Amino acid sequence: MPQDLRIPLPRPAADTPLGHVIRTRRSVRQFPDAPIMLAELAQLLWAAQGVTDGEGKRAAPSAAAQYPLRLYVAAGNVSELPQGLYVYEPQQHALAQVRSDDQRPALAEAAIGSQPWVREAAVVIAIAADVAAIEAHFAEQQPDGRRGARYAYMEAGAASENVHLQATALDLGMVLVGGFDDAAADAALHPGTNEETIALLCLGRK
Ligand SMILES: Cc1cc2nc3c(=O)[nH]c(=O)nc-3n(C[C@H](O)[C@H](O)[C@H](O)COP(=O)(O)O)c2cc1C
Repeated sequence: MPQDLRIPLPRPAADTPLGHVIRTRRSVRQFPDAPIMLAELAQLLWAAQGVTDGEGKRAAPSAAAQYPLRLYVAAGNVSELPQGLYVYEPQQHALAQVRSDDQRPALAEAAIGSQPWVREAAVVIAIAADVAAIEAHFAEQQPDGRRGARYAYMEAGAASENVHLQATALDLGMVLVGGFDDAAADAALHPGTNEETIALLCLGRK
């Protein structure tokens, strides 16, 4: 490895449309008691996992196009959408209701420490995956079949960033909450399944 070679890089194009969104993205943890629109939620979900071509491929990359992620939507303050818990169906670009009560308080309880923004966000998009199933799919890959889990976590990161950038472009606030009690979050979102909750995307107006 050369020790003394340093190449000054060309200036980043931070004022192109994408550069501007990347530059201005910040985590937001204060949300007013104001709704987001259903169209905004739809755009955020599409950015995370929406189908973007005729082959069924999606907005975020996926190892071997297996698409292990499942998006749960804890809707609390979304205009034209009753409070409740929903699952996003990418092929139909639709929300299927799972239960009709507000799950934001349970998710806030699950958060490590005091994180009131989980309860105060207009909506929480939770990213989950059946990690054991995706590990089984990639079982022949080292290390010891654990590669599928790594892929699922990478994909959750990619989907999260898509939502974060889309939220910024819509002038909405977002914070990714990764610190929560796994069992409590799983119980609030998908009890009795093998799914693992990976991230809570807390979104609302700024
Ligand atoms: C994997 C991951 C987990 C995070 N977990 C939390 C969390 O539990 N609570 C929280 O308030 N912020 C959380 N954050 C947000 C970070 O604190 C934030 O991204 C960081 O302070 C940098 O600030 P910025 O996002 O405004 O650039 C998390 C971010 C990442 C990437």
